Amino acid sequence: MPIRPLTPADLPSSEITPESLYLNRREWLAAAGLAVGAIAGASALIPRAAGAQQPLGTPYGLRPDDKATPWDDVTSYNNFYEFGTSKDEPAEMAKGFKPRPWTVKVDGLVKKPGDYALDDLLKAGKVEDRIYRHRCVEAWSMVIPWRGIMLADVLKRAEPTPGAKYVEFTTLYDPNRMPGQRSPVLRWPYTEGLRLDEAMHPLTLLASGVYGRDLPNQNGAPLRLVTPWKYGFKGIKSIVRIRLTDKQPSTAWNDSAPSEYGFYCNVNPTVDHPRWSQAKERRIGEFLRRPTLMFNGYAEQVASLYSGMDLRKNY
Ligand code: MTE
Repeated sequence: MPIRPLTPADLPSSEITPESLYLNRREWLAAAGLAVGAIAGASALIPRAAGAQQPLGTPYGLRPDDKATPWDDVTSYNNFYEFGTSKDEPAEMAKGFKPRPWTVKVDGLVKKPGDYALDDLLKAGKVEDRIYRHRCVEAWSMVIPWRGIMLADVLKRAEPTPGAKYVEFTTLYDPNRMPGQRSPVLRWPYTEGLRLDEAMHPLTLLASGVYGRDLPNQNGAPLRLVTPWKYGFKGIKSIVRIRLTDKQPSTAWNDSAPSEYGFYCNVNPTVDHPRWSQAKERRIGEFLRRPTLMFNGYAEQVASLYSGMDLRKNY
């Protein structure tokens, strides 16, 4: 089966993606590395019906030695407490979960609130494949080819009112379908939040897929948040509500352990978790640990969102 390397034709127009978010030369090399790496395993390519294969999508913030984490790791090493608290449980316990039909409510401080069937929600934007670094607060990391739309497009369609300052996200609450919710390991339903400017940032995705396929249940089917410069727990899964508000929303992990998990959760190698260092990370599939990068390697794109803020206090 012919596998071709990335060419400029694979990349979206820079008219669509702001220049500062676009590929640099190192990312090009990384992308080429991904294509070569993909030869080793067909699962690292997006399958096409016709039998040909296409590369994983546009790399964002990658370094030359970043390779897409294999599908098997992305889909078997998960955090999703609604389906168990150990890494291998979600893949097993979420097997029977049915993520369709699915409705997402967009409401709060917006001119045009609405309840959207998933496919209608996704029509707000352009579905894209983007490869991002993914850093968990537990000091492991992956590189994941997501599929999704920019959250900004969903928010713009709803027309936030001038008072809107934050966005709150809520996961489905249904202990019959999500058995982990029968145990008080977290405050249910899981919620997360972003400042409105973070939510509008072009790197922020609402992901409906991974590796070119619909999200597997354990990865947050049918819709989850992706903010690559933040620790993975911001990436709330199985979202049923997006609410704009004037107050900072309370978030599941901040509620359960405020001294350990803040509202911002920006990846920051200089601010340790109270129980471990954040200076290094273990890339899943690698033996040696690698240094963690400020904002997970996305400083150029997002540091200005936090200028003047004390990131030790706002962790
Ligand atoms: N969302 C919900 N609803 N419940 C969860 O337990 N875990 C979070 C986040 N989103 C979680 C969640 C954590 S701690 C991480 S690291 C990421 O999902 C993991 O995403 P992944 O399993 O796709 O790597």
